[in-house]
Amino acid sequence: MSLPLTDKKIVLGISGSIAVYKVADWLRSLLKEGGEVNVIMTEAATRFVSPLTFAALSGKKVYSSMFEEENAENIPHISLARDCDLILIAPATAQTIARLAHGLADDLLSAVTLATKAKVVVCPAMNSSMYLHPATQANINKLKEYGYTVVDPASGLMACDEKGPGRLPEWDVIRESILQALAHQDLHGCPVLITAGPTIEPIDSVRFISNRSTGKMGFALARAAHQRGAQVTLITGPSNLPHPPGVHVVSVLTANEMHEAVMTRYDRNRVIVKAAAVSDFRPKTVRPEKIKKAAASLTMTLQPNPDILQELGDRGKESKHPPLLIGFAAESRDHLDEGARKLRDKNLDLIVVNDISATDAGFAVDTNRVTILARNSDASELPLLSKEETAHRIWNRVVKML
Ligand code: CTP
Repeated sequence: MSLPLTDKKIVLGISGSIAVYKVADWLRSLLKEGGEVNVIMTEAATRFVSPLTFAALSGKKVYSSMFEEENAENIPHISLARDCDLILIAPATAQTIARLAHGLADDLLSAVTLATKAKVVVCPAMNSSMYLHPATQANINKLKEYGYTVVDPASGLMACDEKGPGRLPEWDVIRESILQALAHQDLHGCPVLITAGPTIEPIDSVRFISNRSTGKMGFALARAAHQRGAQVTLITGPSNLPHPPGVHVVSVLTANEMHEAVMTRYDRNRVIVKAAAVSDFRPKTVRPEKIKKAAASLTMTLQPNPDILQELGDRGKESKHPPLLIGFAAESRDHLDEGARKLRDKNLDLIVVNDISATDAGFAVDTNRVTILARNSDASELPLLSKEETAHRIWNRVVKML
C-alpha cells in the first residue's frame, strides 16, 4: 500500500509564533504519510523551539540562513525551491504573510517561496486582532491571488488570553489542504453526490434496526472527490466520523429520509455514488412509547424500504443526460455474480463489489479489497488498499468515463 505523500518533497517553513511547538507533531505526521521533508525556520521561530527538535524529528539539517558557509555552491534558496512539490508554511505569522504578500526575499523562507514553482499552503496563526486587522486580511487576499492555499485559522482561546480566530487548526484540516493542493484537479467543478453510512429504522421511541456500516468508504470517497476539485454533497446516515472539510454534508436517519434527500438532488449532479448501506426493511409500525418487556414474545412486521439505487437507475433510462451512477454491492458469497446482477438490474455504470466476510475489508475497517465491474468490460480487481486509496482508484475510473 503506498502512502498519500509517497515521493512528495515538502518544505516545512516555520515562522515565529507560540504555535511552533504544535508543528513538531505535524512534521512527524508528514513523515508518517510518506513525505520527504526539509525544514526551514525563520530566525524568530528558532527563539520558540530549537532547530535541534526539528533536526532530530526529520533526521535532516534544519535550514535558517540564506548564507550557508558549508556547501556554499549549493545555494539553499534555489535548491530547496526547485526540488520540492509543496511548501507548507506553518505557523505563518503576520510578519511572514506580509513578507510573502509583498514579494520580499529578506530571509530564507520568503526567498524560497518567491523562487519556487511548487504549491504553497499557508497556515496563519497569530493574535486575533492582528489576524483581523485590514492589513493582514489584505495580505492574505494577495496570497490567495498568487494561487496559494490559505487555511482559515481555528477560533478559540489563544495563548495571549484573547478569544477569536488565530489558532492553528487540527492536523486533519491541514492534511486535507495539502492533499488537495497536490491532487490533480481532474474533477474540478464537477458536482457529485455521495451517500454513506447506515440508515436506522425506528422500532419505538428508543430502539431501532440498523447495520454495521460506519460510513468510512463513503466519507473516503467524499474526501477524495473534494481533493480532486469536485463540488461534493455527502448524504450520510448516522456516523461518528468527522465531516470532511469543504464537503456539503446532509445528515439523515432513515432510508425514507435518504431517499428524499437523494431524489431531490438527482438532476444537479454529474455523478452519484451510492456507498450507503441502506436498510432494506423498516418496522411497519413505530411505537411512540418504549415497548415494555412484559410480553413473553414479540413479533415485529417489517415492510420494504424504497430501493434508492434502483429508482435512480430507472430514472436514468428516461433522462436525456443522466448522471453516472455508481453502486456498491456488499456480498458475503458469489460476489462477482451478485455484483453483475445488481449492475444490470439497477442500470448502473459501475458497481464496486466487496466481500464483507473478509476481516480486512468491508464494514468498520480502514482497508478494503474491491472489484470494480463496468458494463461491457472486464472486472478490475484492486488489491488490499486503504479506503482512501480505494476511493481514489474508483475516481480514476469514473474520471475516464466522464
Ligand atoms: N441500495 C439502495 N437502497 C436500498 C438498498 C440498497 O440504494 N434500499 C443501494 C446501496 O446503496 C448499494 C446497492 O444498492 O449501492 C446495493 O446494496 P446491497 O445491500 O448490496 O444490495 P441490495 O440491493 O439490498 O440487494 P440484496 O439484498 O439482494 O443483496
